[in-house]
Amino acid sequence: MKLNNIEDFIREIQMTSLEKAMDRAAFVEQFRIKFLGKKGIINELFEEFKTVPNEQKKEMGQALNRLKAAAQAKIEEFKASVEQMEQQSQTSDLTLPTDYSEVGSRHVLSVVMNEITDIFSRIGFTVAESVEIEDDWHLFSALNFPHDHPARDMQDTFFVEKEEGRQEVALRTHTSSVQVRVMENNKPPIRIIAPGRVFRNEAISARAHCIFHQVEALYVDKKVTFADLKQTLLYFAKEMFGEQTRIRLRPSYFPFTEPSAEMDISCNICGGKGCNICKGTGWLEILGCGMVDPNVLEACGIDSKEYSGFALGMGVERMAMLKYQIRDLRLYFENDLRFLRQFDALV
Ligand code: DAH
Repeated sequence: MKLNNIEDFIREIQMTSLEKAMDRAAFVEQFRIKFLGKKGIINELFEEFKTVPNEQKKEMGQALNRLKAAAQAKIEEFKASVEQMEQQSQTSDLTLPTDYSEVGSRHVLSVVMNEITDIFSRIGFTVAESVEIEDDWHLFSALNFPHDHPARDMQDTFFVEKEEGRQEVALRTHTSSVQVRVMENNKPPIRIIAPGRVFRNEAISARAHCIFHQVEALYVDKKVTFADLKQTLLYFAKEMFGEQTRIRLRPSYFPFTEPSAEMDISCNICGGKGCNICKGTGWLEILGCGMVDPNVLEACGIDSKEYSGFALGMGVERMAMLKYQIRDLRLYFENDLRFLRQFDALV
C-alpha cells in the first residue's frame, strides 16, 4: 500500500530543490508530472484511497490532501524562482563594457635606463650587453686592478667560485666588464653603451643595495681626447637634467682610466643655490669617467699608440633618485604599487 508512504512523499517534496538542475523549467515540469500528472503519484494514491476501510478514510484523506497541497506549493515556489532567474538574465545588458583591467607600466628604473640609453644612441652609441656572472679577468685584471685592490675583496664581491689556482668567478660588481668584452671582440671605432644589473656584497639601506643598475659608456677611436669626453658629458647632463644644467669635473682615481674624474651637475632642485639635497653645495655627484688607461687597451688587444678612448659609468638608481627626488633606494625593489604608480605616466 503506497498510502502508508504519504509522509515519505511529503518529505521528498520538501527536500527537492532546483539548485542542481541544469534546465530548471524542464525540472519543474518533470516534478509536476511525477506528483500531479494524470498518471502521477497523487492520482494513483487517490485510486488506492477508494479501497481504504471507512474508519481510516478521514485520517488518510487528510494526509493525502496535505501531500497534494505540498506538491502544489512546491511547484508554485519553483515557478516563481524560474521566473525571477529569467528576469535577471534579461536585465543584464550584454553590450556594457567588461570589467576595467589595468594595464601595467614600466618600472621607473627601466624608464631611466632607457632614457640614458636613448640620449647616447642619439650621438651614435649602440647598446652592448654581456654576462652577469663574470670571471676575474673581465671584472678586474684586464681593467688594470692591482692584485691587492679592495674591490677584489670578499667584502665587496659575491664570488661564485673562488678556488686556489683557478680563475675566480663572481657576480659582476660593475658594468665596466662589458668594456673589456667589447674591446676584445671588436676593432675600433667602438662606441657602446652598456646598461645592466650589478651586484655588491653590501648591507641594504636607504643608500645602498646589493643589487643595482649601472650604465657604462665607451668610446675608442683614433685621436679621442678629454675634450670629447667633456663635451659628451655636457650634452648628456643637459639632455638628462635640463638645458640649464652645468657640469663640473673633479680629479679622481679609477684603475681603468687615466686621468680619471668624477662629474657633478648643478643641483637640479635648487638650481645651484644650495639645499638639503645637495647638502648646501649646489652640486650633485653623478658619475665616474676618464680616458681609458693604455694598459686596458693593450690588455684587450688594442694598440694604445694608435688609439685612445674615454669611458664613463653611472648608477641608474642614483640618476632616478636625483631626477624624481626619491629618498630611499629600497623603494625600487619593494613593489609597492603606491610608489610604482607615481611613474605610470612616464614612457
Ligand atoms: N665602474 C665604476 C664603478 O662601478 C664606474 C666607472 C667609473 C666606470 C669610471 C667608468 C669610468 O667607465 O671611466 O664605480
